Amino acid sequence: MQFFCSKLGKTMSPERLREGGRCADMAMVCLTDFEEYAKEHLSKATWDYYAAGADECCTRDDNLLAYKRIRLRPRILRDVSVSDTRTTVQGTEISFPVGIAPTAFHCLAWHEGEVATARATEALNTCYITSTYSTCSVEEIVAAAPNGYRWFQLYVYRDRKLSEQIVHRVEGLGYKALVLTVDVPYTGKRRDDIRNQFKLPPHLKVKNFDGVFQQETAGPEEYGIPANTLDPSISWKDVYWLQSITRLPIIIKGILTKEDAELAVEHGVQGIIVSNHGGRQLDGGPASIDALSEIVETVQGRIEVYVDGGIRTGSDVLKALALGAKCVFIGRPAVWGLAYKGEEGVREVLQILNDEFRLSMALSGCRNVAEINRNLIQFSRL
Ligand code: FNR
Repeated sequence: MQFFCSKLGKTMSPERLREGGRCADMAMVCLTDFEEYAKEHLSKATWDYYAAGADECCTRDDNLLAYKRIRLRPRILRDVSVSDTRTTVQGTEISFPVGIAPTAFHCLAWHEGEVATARATEALNTCYITSTYSTCSVEEIVAAAPNGYRWFQLYVYRDRKLSEQIVHRVEGLGYKALVLTVDVPYTGKRRDDIRNQFKLPPHLKVKNFDGVFQQETAGPEEYGIPANTLDPSISWKDVYWLQSITRLPIIIKGILTKEDAELAVEHGVQGIIVSNHGGRQLDGGPASIDALSEIVETVQGRIEVYVDGGIRTGSDVLKALALGAKCVFIGRPAVWGLAYKGEEGVREVLQILNDEFRLSMALSGCRNVAEINRNLIQFSRL
């Protein structure tokens, strides 16, 4: 029996129609196609975990809406026959200003997990920030993509030795920077995870700490590790502590105000990621793109400023760069790419963003990233 697919406007077998819920041979055109695919294919608990925001999800949703409020001021007749999307982060060239933000548990989306993500980012020559909570070990990730450009995302644990050990491990493996996530003194309240009693399935582990927490596993667990492992007393002095144990550049992830941006510069870090953790921590905080301007103005080019949260199109990337970000990072879209086709899916997600960004640049009269500046933004509307 044949069924009619309204998307493609043709009939097909039930198997093909079922494959993906999406029509099997329908092209993946934009990042929301991957989102739709992931939602249809992942288990409800896994989908809810990736999609979750804190509380009422106001900040999560505003991350996307804020980009839609921004309008561009395109310039014309500027010979855009050649456009160059290359840029640098921390002195290293990447092929376009979109990297992968740290997200946990990639094996939930695809059996090869972070190994697939690492291969995709190596192939596209961009930056992959590996989450502390990866389901492949950092050794496996490096072995899978030995020439990839990588930073490591770090939390500070009550047991400082644990943090110290992982810092030395990733430094030895050739990671090029540490991304210190500072917006999780406690985990935000993600209602669906509580309702679903979200837990890592028994065959998956937070691989970087395999065996480390064995004695404590009888107690309550939060997202694959014993509850209360993170240190809520973390403060600016811990930045000095981190500097004392590593030579790697330190990038602080989770700054949303000019006051904290100034403190970050004063504490000698090398970069800031303006981020609200994809809206998963404090609900009611600003959309990250709305916080970017005051931070860029305060930092005045002394260190690099990046942004993540809500980037779904090439024109979002253009807007973030016009507002002063050196590079942007995507969280959930990479996971959707994994859910679609592993390494190939992440490559497709990155390639689509690269193509869209190149097109947006050309349509607004920019031939290279150096030509992207605040004049592109229609501030009267904001
Ligand atoms: C995250 N994020 C995150 N951040 C971090 O520093 N360490 C982590 O382990 C995780 N884990 C994580 C899991 C999942 C499922 C999500 C969605 C997010 C936050 C992440 O780095 C980033 O800030 C946001 O995902 C960016 O927003 P978008 O691109 O998802 O909208």
